[in-house]
Amino acid sequence: MEPTPSGSDLFQPWTLGPLRLRNRMIRSGCFEGMCPDGRPSEALREHHRAVARGGVAMTTVAYCAVHPDGRSYATEMWMRPEIVPALREMTDAIHREGCAASLQIGHCGGFSDPRVTGTRGLAPSRFFVTYRLGFAREAGAEDLARPEEDFATTTRLAREAGFDAVEVHGGHGYLLSQFLSPWSNRRLDDLGGPLANRVRWPARVVARVREAAGPAMAVLVKMNLDDGFPGGQRAQEAPAIARAFAEAGADGVVLSGGFTSRTPFYMLRGDLPVREMVQNEPSPLRRLGLSLFGRLLVPVHPYQDAFFLEGGLPVVQESPVPVILVGGIHRREDMTRGRALGYAAFALGRPTIRDPEFPSRLARGEVDHSDCDRCNRCVAAMDGGGVRCVTRDLEGR
Ligand SMILES: Cc1cc2nc3c(=O)[nH]c(=O)nc-3n(C[C@H](O)[C@H](O)[C@H](O)COP(=O)(O)O)c2cc1C
Repeated sequence: MEPTPSGSDLFQPWTLGPLRLRNRMIRSGCFEGMCPDGRPSEALREHHRAVARGGVAMTTVAYCAVHPDGRSYATEMWMRPEIVPALREMTDAIHREGCAASLQIGHCGGFSDPRVTGTRGLAPSRFFVTYRLGFAREAGAEDLARPEEDFATTTRLAREAGFDAVEVHGGHGYLLSQFLSPWSNRRLDDLGGPLANRVRWPARVVARVREAAGPAMAVLVKMNLDDGFPGGQRAQEAPAIARAFAEAGADGVVLSGGFTSRTPFYMLRGDLPVREMVQNEPSPLRRLGLSLFGRLLVPVHPYQDAFFLEGGLPVVQESPVPVILVGGIHRREDMTRGRALGYAAFALGRPTIRDPEFPSRLARGEVDHSDCDRCNRCVAAMDGGGVRCVTRDLEGR
């Protein structure tokens, strides 16, 4: 690919752990809703083939649960040997486009959906999940050995399936992030309390993943700069968290924010697609709750470009491994500025849902920003037939 017209190194190859990536743009993990019965479908493969063809250096296949009880949607993938051949077809398709493949692996912890898993969500401490209208279950020390093992097994299977990287979901209020957050982790043992304790179990999981990944696969950790509410994990703790993950063997961290069960739109910013969310909610009670109280239950955060860029600079300065920035990276100028400030690369979600070709168009100098309008109806769509740009559908393109 040609260097960008602005002259930055955005479109030059670079090294991330054991990987050589063709440029500094990565498709951010965006749950696709394309795994009926938790199995990757043809639609998922074609979705990522298109993203890979559109020019990113690596595409992240989103949310693969390490165990069936770590899911909050029935269409979320969960890892087992039977799905490896279908995953292999997908990684082959991605590689044929000259693109690397990453698998986001995680566990929803306390906000796992009992309607999907048949059990209450496992969490560091008991907490109330408003939109589930139920409590999470506090994990005893004996409950934690299994998820550790599940993360390792999932990584081994991902490697077998041809993935170049795994991205451990350590942010957004998922299980690892529930341990990091003082709001959801009120444990009195050596896994709760000061940050050195709260990070202990998440770092142990990353170390297990590192061991299972072997030397040829990259290990990334998506982590929060900030949970986005008082009492949650704040930005001052983020540099130490990045260091702990690096010491546990991560090759890079992906910096985001927000807590799914409290501040789900903090990681997105922009409009709240209440009407579409109501339409896709199967439970009549929750549908009613959402339509009456959706705007009260889900805090709205106005969109702004590159919304974690400034706040994340202390992480960039202190992290021993490359920091990949995500969140509102919709303009070339923010990537150029981010590079100058030390970010290694940029993960793009909505711009590549809106237009998978966006990175190539940037590289060719045809555009300098995404025309995504942050209506966030793509978020509702992931639960209503599969992620797509609803605005583009309506425009008939
Ligand atoms: C439809 C949709 C689904 C998402 N699903 C996930 C997910 O499964 N895992 C995750 O870490 N982030 C998820 N996100 C958040 C994105 O990875 C990203 O952090 C966020 O969209 C901000 O980046 P953007 O401004 O480039 O879209 C999702 C975002 C969207 C729009």
